[in-house]
Amino acid sequence: MEPDWSALEAAARAALPRAYAPYSRFPVAAAILFADGCVLAGVNVENASYPLSLCAERAAVAAGVAGGHGAIRAVLVLTGAAEPTTPCGGCRQVLAEHGDADVPVRSLTLQGRTAEHRLGALLPDAFDGRALTHRD
Ligand code: THU
Repeated sequence: MEPDWSALEAAARAALPRAYAPYSRFPVAAAILFADGCVLAGVNVENASYPLSLCAERAAVAAGVAGGHGAIRAVLVLTGAAEPTTPCGGCRQVLAEHGDADVPVRSLTLQGRTAEHRLGALLPDAFDGRALTHRD
């Protein structure tokens, strides 16, 4: 079933002004639809110790896990950039932990430009927990 993209966009638009990005000045909001129907948003939360910065996508995943909302069914990433922003490599790995390869990831700019990919196309041949089944 097609996700209610307008609900994801509304959640991301509401959250974007709350992004904490004083260092990059690149605010990002992500909204995720979870298996139980809940849509939760996350924003990037930067830190003066730059590597500790948290991406919007991972913030949204953490909220979904903490609330017990189940697997990821759709992802929307919103920025004010000129071109649609796709999740960084680390976030692709984290999204793949909680969502199937066919999960749609829609990238949207405030000007209305969009791009859409499947999670499996963003991270082909992903490393996952199945690789850990042959530990000693
Ligand atoms: N960022 C995200 O939150 N999500 C993305 O998809 C791309 C990058 C953040 C990390 C950092 O706070 C800022 O954007 C610039 O890289």
